[in-house]
Amino acid sequence: MKKLYAVIGDPIGHSMSPAMHNDLFQHYKIDAHYHALHVKSEQLEDAIKGLKAIGISGFNVTIPHKVKIISLLDRVDSLALSIGAVNTVVNEDGQLVGYNTDGSGYLTGIRNELSSLEDKKVLIIGAGGAARAIYFSMADAGIKQIDLTNRTVNKALSLIHDCPYAVQSEALELNETEKQLIEYDIVIQTTSIGMSPERDYIPLSLHNLKTNAFVSDIIYNPLETLFLQNAKEKGASIQNGISMFVHQGALAFQKWTGILPDLDRMKNIVLKQLGGNIC
Ligand code: ATR
Repeated sequence: MKKLYAVIGDPIGHSMSPAMHNDLFQHYKIDAHYHALHVKSEQLEDAIKGLKAIGISGFNVTIPHKVKIISLLDRVDSLALSIGAVNTVVNEDGQLVGYNTDGSGYLTGIRNELSSLEDKKVLIIGAGGAARAIYFSMADAGIKQIDLTNRTVNKALSLIHDCPYAVQSEALELNETEKQLIEYDIVIQTTSIGMSPERDYIPLSLHNLKTNAFVSDIIYNPLETLFLQNAKEKGASIQNGISMFVHQGALAFQKWTGILPDLDRMKNIVLKQLGGNIC
């Protein structure tokens, strides 16, 4: 019987996950289909019961359900629990088990670009859900110094306070960060600033950026944010948000099927999708 996979969220119409996963199922000759399901917050509990009842094999979870779903699952792994968000669910012998592949996906992507991370000094801009997943995964991976900067500095402080892994961290005001930017080898932009259609904004000035820094932005629409353009002008290496998106999807696919899929193939599908959707 055809296996069933899905992504649930609200809104869900523009999700690129169905195209990406259905292409992989076809490519690896797996008899399965991945659907985009529009689930509103007030329907989440019923939707999860329904998905379990029909024996769904696995699903992704996107905005706004990544936090609320935790209490509705049979089990949640420890990293996802400490992050406080689930983006991937696997049906393990009838039990719905939650994981977070956002942070680990980000980490896999950056490891492909940089040989050693552990001795690097990292700055994360933002303190929302995405920053949390990336920060916890990098701390769990043994990166020693990860500072956080955010418009609301108290949110950065809470994130540091909540992290169960040993890591040296400071919470900084944005203007303070601009002055000491030269200290950082890796700068990771996790806010929505610069996302289409509001492309003309940056979260902070890169005037003092280290010349050979590595700068990444988790936004993929546009493919090159103004922030990344500024980083490139300062001589930095850059990485856009396609990497995190594709790697979180690849790790989900691997949990569902045991196959680590072809990343270039996934990237091409996403770029094709974006070609039609960039505004
Ligand atoms: P996500 O789950 O995608 O990370 P989020 O939890 O809403 O989204 O977090 C958004 C992040 O972008 C936060 O760090 C937010 O800063 P605040 O904590 O101060 O709200 C940041 N952000 C969003 N819009 C911003 C803006 N106009 N200026 C500065 N920071 C902004």
